[in-house]
Amino acid sequence: MTKRKTVLEREIEALSRVNKFIGSISNLHRLLDLIMKESKRIMKAEASSLMLYDPKSKKLFFEVALGKKGKKVKKIRLKVGQGIAGTAAKMDKVLNIPDVTKDPHFYKEADSRSGFKTKSILTVPLKRKGKLLGVLEVLNKKNGRPFDKQDVRLIQIIAGQAAVAIENAQLYLANLRAERLAAVGQTITSLSHYIKNLLTGIEMGKETVHLGLEDREQETFATGWRMVDKNMEKVSNLVLNMLNYSKPRKPLYQLANLNEIVKQVVASQEEHAKRENARLLTNLDHHLDRVLIDTSGIERVLLNLVGNSLDALKGRGGKVEITTHLEKKKKLFRIIVSDTGCGIPKEQIKEIFNFFYSTKGSKGTGIGLAVTEKIVKEQKGKIKVTSEVGKGTTFTITLPWH
Ligand SMILES: Nc1ncnc2c1ncn2[C@@H]1O[C@H](COP(=O)(O)OP(=O)(O)OP(=O)(O)O)[C@@H](O)[C@H]1O
Ligand SMILES: [Mg+2]
Repeated sequence: MTKRKTVLEREIEALSRVNKFIGSISNLHRLLDLIMKESKRIMKAEASSLMLYDPKSKKLFFEVALGKKGKKVKKIRLKVGQGIAGTAAKMDKVLNIPDVTKDPHFYKEADSRSGFKTKSILTVPLKRKGKLLGVLEVLNKKNGRPFDKQDVRLIQIIAGQAAVAIENAQLYLANLRAERLAAVGQTITSLSHYIKNLLTGIEMGKETVHLGLEDREQETFATGWRMVDKNMEKVSNLVLNMLNYSKPRKPLYQLANLNEIVKQVVASQEEHAKRENARLLTNLDHHLDRVLIDTSGIERVLLNLVGNSLDALKGRGGKVEITTHLEKKKKLFRIIVSDTGCGIPKEQIKEIFNFFYSTKGSKGTGIGLAVTEKIVKEQKGKIKVTSEVGKGTTFTITLPWH
């Protein structure tokens, strides 16, 4: 009676413990580790191992092996039918081997690699809806005796639960991969669309240049060239933004003239300013003629902010002003880009730094501010925006001054 109660108790305990695996499905490695630990504990075994089945190579491989020398057996691969684990998988049944030295299937390699001395093995295939997922093994019962009937029942309970949990975790991983692929697909579609527009612009510019050359029309030639130039600049801006966004970037600090960088950006935006009927002004603090900055990062930030401000004028004219300002006492400096453009509605402000958020249709990708924010944060700085619809927008970047 007492014995029977103990059996039942162990079974209930095993069930309730392994049931918890189902909840931790998101991390496959942690899950396998947990299955190992629990089966070793419940079965009172010296070691345990779990081989996962890879349907592509049709092989079983050790994902985890516990016990004192567990780490060493992690890399072993077995064909189905090879070793005791492979045989259990092939025969699709629990194998209880009381003395492995007498079993011709025993795969000695694992012991010789790990230094572990296997005496008895209890092996069970992990299956779900008829599909092989892996093989679970417990090795050497701690009391020195072979595994008994009760152990066989227990390992079957564990195997059933473990298979569900492993299947869930693998499905979760597959879904995650599919979601990521879908996101990559979407990104590529949006970017390709935008790049195609720019290439069309370049193509049209080229044809206009040809026309100008054929007809010896200076004005037509110049118009075509401007089209090529504008779209080329956009392609280059897009590529540099993408490169900046795609990976973490360590700022490369060097002593440089911040105001000179501002002037260069202004010079590069003259054409754009002309198209928008804009005045591009600067208000520069000469204390920042020599300052430790990440020049290429700052240049990227400025190009994005000034580009946006000029776009915001929408050809109606107005001004864009870039201010630099050192606050020595606070050990920081500011770069302020303000414009008299269309402004940003309140409800949109929280969206503008999101990747791919753009209100410019085919004329924008929505990468500019996401990259700008990333660069500023990588330099331990802050970016702030204030805006009033119909009046204009001001972006303020605050960076530490060394
Ligand atoms: N100075 C500004 N004035 C008004 N709206 C702005 C300003 N700066 C940004 N925005 C708004 O924020 C959005 C996101 O800006 P962001 O620079 O990230 O993308 P974009 O300019 O649309 O495209 P791109 O990737 O080519 O820069 C813009 O589409 C625009 O709606
Ligand atoms: Mg932009």
